[in-house]
Amino acid sequence: MEKTYDYLYALVKSKPIPVHVAIIMDGNGRWAKKHKLPRIAGHRRGVEALRDIISTSSELGIKYLTLYAFSTENWKRPKDEVNALMSLLVEFLRKEVAELHRNSVKIYVLGDIGRLPEAARTEVQHAMDLTRANSGLQVNIALNYGSRAEILKAIKSIVQDVTSKRLAFDDITEQTISQYLDTGGIPDPDMLIRTSGEYRISNFLLYQIAYTELVFTDKNVFWPDFTREKYLEAIIEYQGRVRRYGGLDTGEDD
Ligand code: IPE
Ligand code: IPE
Ligand code: MG
Repeated sequence: MEKTYDYLYALVKSKPIPVHVAIIMDGNGRWAKKHKLPRIAGHRRGVEALRDIISTSSELGIKYLTLYAFSTENWKRPKDEVNALMSLLVEFLRKEVAELHRNSVKIYVLGDIGRLPEAARTEVQHAMDLTRANSGLQVNIALNYGSRAEILKAIKSIVQDVTSKRLAFDDITEQTISQYLDTGGIPDPDMLIRTSGEYRISNFLLYQIAYTELVFTDKNVFWPDFTREKYLEAIIEYQGRVRRYGGLDTGEDD
């Protein structure tokens, strides 16, 4: 029997809530195919699913939600699909930013937005500026994001700062690398969810997920099917994991 939202919500709330949740929102195209619709209809439904996931994250008191929206590799898709994705982003921000702002959500972007169409760049910049001082949920949207490009950019900045003596070679630590990534200042994700049954990372947050708990949905759960209940179930799965970080389980029952 499908568990109700209230039941699952109470269960999630009874245990520690992840501070940072990352999501690879995958399967919009397959959802559309299954429903005999064009791929873009799947993306549109994906945005609707996203709205619920953001509000549930807010309600739960999750601090950071990092969403893979468009990868550096997604430019390989047909021009029409890329354009449609960019238009959907603009539409989403125009419609939702005021409400998100009212709910104290802070919008932040990972990736290189320089390559995005101007309308998208403008909306993204506006959303970030408007919500900069908000203290509620921080939504990081990964746009034209690729982890390898991010690491490359970080290495170049580190080298530059060492060359110009802003940073001492001997002071470079693992934390320095974290700081120079687009996620600098944000704690690593506690859990990473990927929908639609693909068991890969697709160039997302490679450095940051060293000890992140990975949760993959069944292959019949495409992103537009990822309801609030499915989200809570994924968090319950995370809450049942024992995180050892290479050490020993500190639980008392063994
Ligand atoms: C995820 O859905 C959305 C983006 C990558 C922008 P897909 O478009 O990858 O859907 P599938 O994987 O083809 O089903
Ligand atoms: C990852 O999904 C990127 C986003 C969800 C934005 P893809 O659908 O692009 O990944 P692959 O191609 O299946 O690895
Ligand atoms: Mg995909």
